[in-house]
Amino acid sequence: AEVRNFKWEVGYFFWSPDCIENIVMGINGQFPGPTIRAKVGDTINIELTNKLVTEGVVIHWHGITQSGTPWSDGTASITQCVINPDETFVYSFNVNKAGTHFYHGHYGMQRSAGLYGSLIVELEDGKKEPFHYDGEFNLLLSDWWHKSIHELEVGLSSIPFRWVGEPQSLLINGKGQYNCSLAADYSNSSLGTCDLNQAEWQCKPQVLNVIPNKTYRLRIASATSLSSLNLAIGNHKMLVVEADGNYVQPFAVDDMDIYSGESYSVLITTDQNPSMNYWISIGVRGRLPKTPQGLTILNYLPNDASQLPVSPPPITPSWNDFNHSKSFSNKILALQGSPKPPISAARRIFLLNTQNLFNGYIKWSLNNVSLALPSTPYLGSIKYGLKGAYDDKSPPENFDSDYDIMKPPINPNSTQGNGVYTFALSSTVDVILQNANVLSGNVSEIHPWHLHGHDFWVLGYGEGKFNEKIDVEKFNLKNPPLRNTAVIFPYGWTAIRFVADNPGVWAFHCHIEPHLHMGMGVVFAEGVEHVGQIPNDTLRCGLTAKMLTTGQLP
Ligand code: C2O
Ligand code: CU
Repeated sequence: AEVRNFKWEVGYFFWSPDCIENIVMGINGQFPGPTIRAKVGDTINIELTNKLVTEGVVIHWHGITQSGTPWSDGTASITQCVINPDETFVYSFNVNKAGTHFYHGHYGMQRSAGLYGSLIVELEDGKKEPFHYDGEFNLLLSDWWHKSIHELEVGLSSIPFRWVGEPQSLLINGKGQYNCSLAADYSNSSLGTCDLNQAEWQCKPQVLNVIPNKTYRLRIASATSLSSLNLAIGNHKMLVVEADGNYVQPFAVDDMDIYSGESYSVLITTDQNPSMNYWISIGVRGRLPKTPQGLTILNYLPNDASQLPVSPPPITPSWNDFNHSKSFSNKILALQGSPKPPISAARRIFLLNTQNLFNGYIKWSLNNVSLALPSTPYLGSIKYGLKGAYDDKSPPENFDSDYDIMKPPINPNSTQGNGVYTFALSSTVDVILQNANVLSGNVSEIHPWHLHGHDFWVLGYGEGKFNEKIDVEKFNLKNPPLRNTAVIFPYGWTAIRFVADNPGVWAFHCHIEPHLHMGMGVVFAEGVEHVGQIPNDTLRCGLTAKMLTTGQLP
């Protein structure tokens, strides 16, 4: 195993992600940030300096469990104080499992500003994946707004509410095209053709150069702020083999859905007519799309990359074809021999997802509580038993059994809170995520829920309201997939199970960044008394800062 050291500076700079100049939040002058590649067992040290001048920053390592290093999880107000301008903090953690992951800002809306990059963990030398491939590519997907994140954020926190709206562009590895389309020749839109050769290098699509008759692994991760995506490759089937760093029973598809916070590996075989090139497309699902497809090219060598495919890009399945999405999610099952879930849970928590009002502001709530993060990060305040740092009453574990999820909330008002769900160390926990109607009625949105610090088994998805008597019997305990992100479909529920065996404090939230910002999250904690020495650099704010200056370290 190796120790991999990185020195990063986070800053704003001018960049043209979609050929339109804007400011992005990037790392060492790069957007997206540098790709980290490591091997299982490695230690990663990132010395992060904040060059943002007027804002704090943190980075979360999405998919890494941070076992033994919960203070390196990079969640503002939960595991650490933000890194102030000109300050440096060292994230140090082990990577103990292979997988396709990414990292991103976890403070305010900094992910939307462009603070993300890929984090790929390969198997140890000498170990083999349960599938074969000749080469690999990495596709980090994201969505992009031309407005600043400050304007987007102020809109969310205003009366009247101003929604962020749909993104201007979809980006593949940080590159998209706003003012032109690579596929203009095939569409009847008014967009002109992009000139691949002339395109500014910052927005020039990253072409995938392949050799005929080989097998390639595509690692795909979605760091989108909002968009659920569908990815397809013209003429090529994809064999799904990995989801969120866990092997799945391989299955072939023509197109795949990917929600924010998810990652996959797919295998493709370059067995199509080698004299042609093929489109790789991403399009919006789950919301009425107002954003053009993101495109790049699968370039069969020795063809020229500027040789466009002869047919139009694959058509994205219609945005509201939820059956198509559900059928994809239901195909994802654990590879034989994967760890199985405990057969029962010690505790079952129900989380009703609703849109609400709080003092006239639009919020998202769980069991009528909208998350408002405290000024002292939980990890320190819980470990040192500091009084008054957060609401010490534990939040509601259920909702009114009469609640009609098919209707808008009868009482739209919710409360704000920051209580913690505390689990006995190593106990098994079920969470039933229950979707419902929004304030305006007749809409129930998709929410991809992401858990920090753990993988969980997805025991099942269902329609309507979860019925404990009937639905528990139907849980898949045989081959449920292990994931760290799971979606809830409109008016439906999703059941997950995990073992609370990682001492620390962990966010569990909707991965749509504006939704989290509007309160769509909860906080889990387990075994905090077993957490080792928390670095002082994570404690220099709120009540823990006071504790440090008065020298009253318990
Ligand atoms: Cu990728 Cu808490 O997020
Ligand atoms: Cu959401």
